Amino acid sequence: MSAQSSSPAPDAVDPRRVPQLTLAGGDRMPAIGLGTFGSDHADAAEVAAAVLGAAEVGYRHFDCAAVYANEREIGAALQQVIAGGVPRDELWITSKLWNDSHAAESVLPACRKSLDDLQLDVLDLYLVHWPFPNHHAPGVDVSARDHHARPYIHEEFMATWREMERLVEMGWVRHIGTSNMTEAKMKLLLRDARIRPAVEQCELHPHCQQQRWVDYLQSEGIAVVGFSPIGSPARPERDRTPEDSVDIEDPVVVEIAQRLGLHPAVVCLKWGVQRGTGVVPMSTKRRNYAANLQGVAGAPLSAADMAALAAIDRNCRLIKGQVFLWKQGQPWEDLWDPTGEITPP
Ligand SMILES: NC(=O)c1ccc[n+]([C@@H]2O[C@H](COP(=O)([O-])OP(=O)(O)OC[C@H]3O[C@@H](n4cnc5c(N)ncnc54)[C@H](OP(=O)(O)O)[C@@H]3O)[C@@H](O)[C@H]2O)c1
Repeated sequence: MSAQSSSPAPDAVDPRRVPQLTLAGGDRMPAIGLGTFGSDHADAAEVAAAVLGAAEVGYRHFDCAAVYANEREIGAALQQVIAGGVPRDELWITSKLWNDSHAAESVLPACRKSLDDLQLDVLDLYLVHWPFPNHHAPGVDVSARDHHARPYIHEEFMATWREMERLVEMGWVRHIGTSNMTEAKMKLLLRDARIRPAVEQCELHPHCQQQRWVDYLQSEGIAVVGFSPIGSPARPERDRTPEDSVDIEDPVVVEIAQRLGLHPAVVCLKWGVQRGTGVVPMSTKRRNYAANLQGVAGAPLSAADMAALAAIDRNCRLIKGQVFLWKQGQPWEDLWDPTGEITPP
């Protein structure tokens, strides 16, 4: 079946029923998008098939990135979705600038490549994927380090951001934003930006709630989108540490799920959207990505369930970013400015 069938699929949700996030300028984005990072478990063709299927069940928001190495295949799927009758302006397509393209002269070509691969004239949102220009080969162990890695240098980040602003002025992207920032870095960006970030994408799930960070962003009019919103249960072994916890096995999540007849993953997503953030869950299984959309568009969780979920935070960051550290033997927390100041070199 294709996205163009005139009668909706039996598992479809009317996109008009999907909650929306309103950005500072008034534009609205669907609060749930399909994550497209296949990592080690889904190749580009599988992710592209999921994009097609997800559009058919009512997804209109797709969270892409150059480093996921599948934008060409997703672009072909999006062409099919549009040809099948979904107007381009009903889609919300995000992409991200990878860490190897922060140099001022690299930003426009990197964005051009994502636009070409995705077969789009304009991106709805373009994020700086990480605030560090440090990069690594795909699939490396957490102990791998980029020998040219360096700390956050605000002047360098602003040179990147000026090019991001140019992308808006040139009409290549409608909104720009950030990902994996901290309050200390964001304060400097807000001080110096001509165009403020519309969105910050960061790790958010019941065991990693970051409520203070979310409150700060929202108080600044920045919409917040949570990645790994189910707690990334399929992430590769190299991204796991013994202290990591599993959201979908938490007794509070499991109890609510059983009582409501939902999968624990869906409870995590309903909580995320109901607290006012976006979520970009990944799945290549139609049963799962359809259930996720249905759950977010369905009846809200009770205030008591929301309060119970708010109480299970463990400050458990799963995507620690070790490969972006700039010194040997450095704790991963340095990437996240634990003292509230930008971690010095
Ligand atoms: N900005 C960043 O730095 C950054 C970092 C990480 C991720 N992201 C974005 O966030 C997206 C999601 O993150 P993620 O993939 O790490 O983790 P996630 O969405 O928290 O978890 C994905 C896993 O959950 C399973 N799942 C999804 N729905 C389910 C359901 N209803 N029932 C049971 N299992 C379900 C999926 O398995 P099945 O496929 O078997 O359903 C998949 O293994 C990425 O794809 C990417 O777009 C961004």
